[in-house]
Amino acid sequence: NKTTLWGGRFNQKSNQLFQNFNNSLHIDYRLAKYDIQSSIAWSKALKQCYVLTKQEQIKIQNALNILLNQIHQNPKNILDSNEEDIHSWVESKLVGMLGTLAKKLNTGRSRNDQVTTDLKLWCKDIIIKLLNYLIKLQHTLLITAEKTINDIMPGYTHLQRAQPITFAYWCLAYIEMFIRDENRLQETLKRIDISPLGSGALCGTTWLIDRKKLALRLGFSKITKNSLDAVSDRDYVIELLSNASISMMHLSRFSEDLIFFNSGESNFIELSDAITSGSSLMPQKKNPDALELIRGKSSRVYGYLISMLVLLKGLPLSYNKDMQEDKENLFYGLDIWKNCLKISILVLQSIKIKHDICSESAKKGYSNATELADYLVKKGMSFRTSHHISGQIVLKAMKYNCPLENLSLSMLRNYSIFFDKDIYDKLSLHSCINSRNSQGGVSFSEVLKSINRIKKNKFYI
Ligand code: ARG
Repeated sequence: NKTTLWGGRFNQKSNQLFQNFNNSLHIDYRLAKYDIQSSIAWSKALKQCYVLTKQEQIKIQNALNILLNQIHQNPKNILDSNEEDIHSWVESKLVGMLGTLAKKLNTGRSRNDQVTTDLKLWCKDIIIKLLNYLIKLQHTLLITAEKTINDIMPGYTHLQRAQPITFAYWCLAYIEMFIRDENRLQETLKRIDISPLGSGALCGTTWLIDRKKLALRLGFSKITKNSLDAVSDRDYVIELLSNASISMMHLSRFSEDLIFFNSGESNFIELSDAITSGSSLMPQKKNPDALELIRGKSSRVYGYLISMLVLLKGLPLSYNKDMQEDKENLFYGLDIWKNCLKISILVLQSIKIKHDICSESAKKGYSNATELADYLVKKGMSFRTSHHISGQIVLKAMKYNCPLENLSLSMLRNYSIFFDKDIYDKLSLHSCINSRNSQGGVSFSEVLKSINRIKKNKFYI
């Protein structure tokens, strides 16, 4: 066990099966860049408390930078080694380059504070990427909304046609969800931006490390306040996976809506050939695979979140090896989220709206029945009564198999003498939409207002 970081008190060799079981390099090799960054910062902290001379620190820093360059060119090379984890890998490479000097670097530092520092640095980087994709998705939705302001289609409750809306309005609903996802991620970032480095194995270090300076050097804005907590804390992994889960739930509903709009039964949109696939048996098929996979993959992200909660719930303080499982959950969960954001943007960029079919469908299903009721209320009737009367008129129209606007005025007057010629204007799709002018409503002017607000606040246009 001479080759490990901990072999001194061991007489026997590790069992090969155990080694394979214990090693995490195949997962945590992704932390290489951050392990090197934090090691450079640590070497500077050690110089300040005279563990390393200026010359020694420079040598270590140069060697680490060379290593950084090597892995930048080909990160997968790391996987050729059979080191235990990324920390052992960096250390063994450094020893290969510098000999005994390299062995001074881990003074006062444990893999316990090292691993969570590296992981937080990794999180900060991926968050920036995720935020960019969330914003790009909002932008793509915004562009789609601008193009579809006049595309009227049915809005649903219980998957029954309820009241007419526009495609633009549907896009704006999803923009709101992705803005919330973005805000959540920003909030999480604040809690990740706290450095655990200098916590030692669990209760601090004997060396006079300036932790605050060390943190600032690594781009963290604060330091953790209790080392026992700092090395045990994986709240941020749970938080990120819960952000991912909520956003995947949004992406999954977005996918489900589009799968339904694309179905033969509604036929509101056409998805591009570039993101659909065919059937090996039925030559006529074009299936919405990209969207179905987003819906499907959301389940896996929820799995990773639950894994993390279960992983931690029974763990005594402080570090336990169980925690090594955190990275697989986090990496794979966020990979999925990132990929699904990218694919959603792609799907949306190439979507075609079938305007006529959308508005024809909005005319069906008596989705203007609420207008009848509201009309009577404006003439002085109570809403409950007008609701009841309108329901009876719908029954009548269903019997004649015609839309409400095809019923004659005299027929309508059998139900209430309040009805006049102007009811027919009110029943038009256009009027249904435009009259819902409450703040956040579907009216054309409210939709325009929303588009402009989002443009100004988010995209500075
Ligand atoms: N590979 C380990 C992990 O990812 C690093 C920390 C190991 N610490 C220890 N005391 N064995 O959790």
